Amino acid sequence: MTQITQKIALVTGSSRGLGKNTALTLAQKGVDVIVTYHSSEAEANAVVSEIKAMGRKAVALQLDSSDIQTFDGFVVQVNRVLQDIWQTEQFNFLINNAGIGISKPFTETTEEDFDRLMNIQLKGVFFLTQKLLSVIQDGGRIVNISTGLARFTLPGFSAYGAMKGGIEVLTRYLAKELGERQIAVNTIAPGAIETDFGGGAVRDNQQMNDFIASQTALGRVGVPDDIGGAIAALLSEDNRWINGQRIEVSGGMFL
Ligand SMILES: NC(=O)c1ccc[n+]([C@@H]2O[C@H](COP(=O)([O-])OP(=O)(O)OC[C@H]3O[C@@H](n4cnc5c(N)ncnc54)[C@H](OP(=O)(O)O)[C@@H]3O)[C@@H](O)[C@H]2O)c1
Repeated sequence: MTQITQKIALVTGSSRGLGKNTALTLAQKGVDVIVTYHSSEAEANAVVSEIKAMGRKAVALQLDSSDIQTFDGFVVQVNRVLQDIWQTEQFNFLINNAGIGISKPFTETTEEDFDRLMNIQLKGVFFLTQKLLSVIQDGGRIVNISTGLARFTLPGFSAYGAMKGGIEVLTRYLAKELGERQIAVNTIAPGAIETDFGGGAVRDNQQMNDFIASQTALGRVGVPDDIGGAIAALLSEDNRWINGQRIEVSGGMFL
């Protein structure tokens, strides 16, 4: 296992699901973690305890990615924990993972659904990254989480897929504009993974689970352990020259 030492990662939405798996996998590889949660404080604290049990440092901060007005205050808190816990001013890896799913046909998607997705999945990522730039070290890395649904289509994901498509374009612009600071920026696009996402449908709806497995070259639905390791591998020194790319991690879904 490639170790990644003396680095600090901030993983948004790491109280549950893919963010939690990423935080724990990074910690296994020697990375300290700033965990963020929106409503699941107890789950976030449990992730922090697990990371500390591995001998790494961690802390949980509350973040609402949809509320841009709170981002300045969030950056102040990040600054404070960096000083208090690490006696440093900057961290190394930002993983923009927090997100929600709304699945509705195009004809039934409301402006409210669209705005909710937009605020959390695209606008929040855009401005949170902008605000956090002062606390990311030169030579650091950013990973944005997209979805297979930005490459292939399934009915019900027009708004969600469009936002994630935006994330993939944003990734390339960030890679271009942050290159002068030696910050590499990439997209990881998971296929369907068994988490609470979208009401846990991929995990709990057997018909959907079977359908996805049948459309996946490796013959099953993804699990969180398929994603955290891929993100950690991307953040290792071995992959330092990958920049501005979209890497799909789906077991070969809809090839
Ligand atoms: N699961 C999949 O099949 C799949 C596939 C492709 C891409 N993705 C993407 O992967 C990312 C993680 O999904 P997941 O499957 O891990 O989902 P999940 O299990 O539902 O977890 C979502 C995480 O995001 C946080 N979150 C939700 N709303 C938030 C907000 N307004 N502000 C800040 N944090 C918020 C949650 O925090 P609290 O619990 O504290 O509220 C939780 O930690 C998302 O961007 C999703 O679009 C998922």
